[in-house]
Amino acid sequence: MKLRMVPKEVFEVMDLNGQFNYHWSPDAVFSLVGLGTSYLLEFFEFYGDAISKYYDRFVKNTAFEDDRFHTFISQERRHAAAHKMLNLFMTKKYLPPAREKYHPRVYDFMYPTYKEFVEPIIAGIEEDAAKGMTLDSPHFREALKSIAIFETEVCMAAFSFFENLFDKGKITHIINQSQNLGVLYLFGYHYAEEMEHCHVSIETYETIYGEKLWTQKEVDNYLNNADILTRRIINATLFVARELGAEVSVRQIAFRLPAKNRMVAVGFNANDPQINSRIHYFVEKWDSEWEPLLRAKIHEEIKRRQVA
Ligand SMILES: [Fe+2]
Ligand SMILES: [Fe+2]
Repeated sequence: MKLRMVPKEVFEVMDLNGQFNYHWSPDAVFSLVGLGTSYLLEFFEFYGDAISKYYDRFVKNTAFEDDRFHTFISQERRHAAAHKMLNLFMTKKYLPPAREKYHPRVYDFMYPTYKEFVEPIIAGIEEDAAKGMTLDSPHFREALKSIAIFETEVCMAAFSFFENLFDKGKITHIINQSQNLGVLYLFGYHYAEEMEHCHVSIETYETIYGEKLWTQKEVDNYLNNADILTRRIINATLFVARELGAEVSVRQIAFRLPAKNRMVAVGFNANDPQINSRIHYFVEKWDSEWEPLLRAKIHEEIKRRQVA
């Protein structure tokens, strides 16, 4: 796992000003879905960061401590920082995010998620901790589980991102069609790291609690609409579209989301040799080929603008 830097030129061509063009991919609705997802990623990265404080309290210096968990959280903190400017820009005409007791940046449309998801878990951990519980806190267990589920979902999203937009030479077409290479780069960088650390939270949960994460029951639960992302991506995308003055329907958004039943199978673990080699392939491609190509195109774009 590496801590990659987002070069400042990426933000330069992102045009977080009146020139901002949201069509970072050839498909307008898919572009909006990506920007909606940007808010969810940031929101859950802060949630992960909050839970990592309890990880430090409960797991550090026990036999379960895993250095990779700290690296995973460091990657997430950097992701949140990288998305913050973009997210703030898109909502600038409206209210800035509010600081809540257990989350520093809650946009209005994420407030229900804060209340139904974050607050009960973290308040619960606090109550459990006051009773002297650590790893045996049922709320801490729920928190680690929710992170592992979320991370699996993001990992699946990363697979479809690279498969549909970058792999097998598709990137050339996407770069030519993209009207915002900065946003395209941001997602490439983010999803590469998501794949890279996908296994960490799953293994953390499985090792500490001695059970598999993706049991039949958990997969059923996920398929029966209890996944963390789908409904929230729809809400966030509607919000983004309104902010950007774009017209989009729930049907159009839902059509862009990957089919859930193709995603997680019973026993899913990102360290499974087949999954692992796919992850390795995409991350390697990002570092050695796609990232340098995208960066070169961004430099070309900057030069072109200077001449114009
Ligand atoms: Fe992330
Ligand atoms: Fe992640």
